[in-house]
Amino acid sequence: MIDETSFFRPSRLGPTIVRGEGASLWDRTGRRYVDLGASHGVGNLGASHPKVVRAVQQQAAELLYLGAGYDVPVRSQFLERLVGLLPPSLDRVFLSNSGTEAVEAALKFARSATGRTRVVAAMRGFHGRTFGALSATWRKEFREPFEPLVPGFVHVPYNDVGAITEAIDESTALVLLELVQGEGGVHVATPEFLSAARARASAVGALLAFDEVQTGVGRTGRMFAFERWGVVPDILVLAKSLAGGVPIGATVTTEEVRGRFRGSHHSTFGGTPLACAAGIAALDVVVRERLWERAERLGEYARERLSHLPTDKIREVRGLGLLIGLELRERVTPTLAALTERGFLALPAGATVLRLLPPLVIPEDDLKAGLEAIEEVVGRG
Ligand SMILES: Cc1ncc(COP(=O)(O)O)c(C=O)c1O
Repeated sequence: MIDETSFFRPSRLGPTIVRGEGASLWDRTGRRYVDLGASHGVGNLGASHPKVVRAVQQQAAELLYLGAGYDVPVRSQFLERLVGLLPPSLDRVFLSNSGTEAVEAALKFARSATGRTRVVAAMRGFHGRTFGALSATWRKEFREPFEPLVPGFVHVPYNDVGAITEAIDESTALVLLELVQGEGGVHVATPEFLSAARARASAVGALLAFDEVQTGVGRTGRMFAFERWGVVPDILVLAKSLAGGVPIGATVTTEEVRGRFRGSHHSTFGGTPLACAAGIAALDVVVRERLWERAERLGEYARERLSHLPTDKIREVRGLGLLIGLELRERVTPTLAALTERGFLALPAGATVLRLLPPLVIPEDDLKAGLEAIEEVVGRG
């Protein structure tokens, strides 16, 4: 088998998967795995949710692609559905195909709308791997081989109110933050940090963007994580599970920002009828089944259980909803391998953090079995 991905990503995570349903994935031999990582956070609805599959099949037969220059009802319906879930000020949407593209759009909108170039981001933050998004990303291993990156980016310690207040000044175009740092080790924002970022950005005319690529669409116990803090951004960045597994990115902003935008920005494949149909189906499922409530309940249960494991291998259990980080006092790779052997696929978040990001639809028995496997692997000694 020609394996192109191993050239780019030497750290392969496990078995070759051929089929999925809900939180279950099967390999070629028919062995079942429980996906505790929701395929990197794309699968909030699990693998191949039947309602998304049906919508994709119908839309593919009707109109697979249409250029963004033409209107198509399914796109307007998707945008209405999305905007209807957001505060009234966030009503202008740019559609693309991935998280990193959605971040790039946010950077361009902010530069253009403010006439400034400085971007304040956070240490341990992750925003993608194209040049703008990579410049906002913190980790040295991701950045260094591709330097020089885009100038004008500064990184402040996450949750440091003094540092962020000082860093945002009259030359700042954008403040770009995750509400829970996913790739960076599952660190949850404090209300004081977000309020300070909001207040200072407004005071100096900078824009505030929340990158909810990983935290959005029910993951953290709210439809969007920022609802928990009541701090409304000028730009909201979404992707991953927004279209139930079909590629999508969305950069949502205000009429004011759109009105100040000069220049042009476009993506050939942004907002295809296919992605929009999948997006409508995915949002419908999340809203109808109130999956954020399930994320909140199951997340509390899991964190509580993991916090009481009789072991000193665990330094801390963190997270919100079903975005959970278990910081170990050792490297996480052997734990991930041992879990895979037992039929559970989890994720790392840096060298020592085990990240759990299960589908919001995971059957309770599968989640409990996953926690038991973690107890077996980590909870001894
Ligand atoms: C918070 C955050 N922003 C941006 C991205 C980049 O998204 P993509 O891989 O779709 O480009 C990710 C991906 O993990 C992410 O977690």
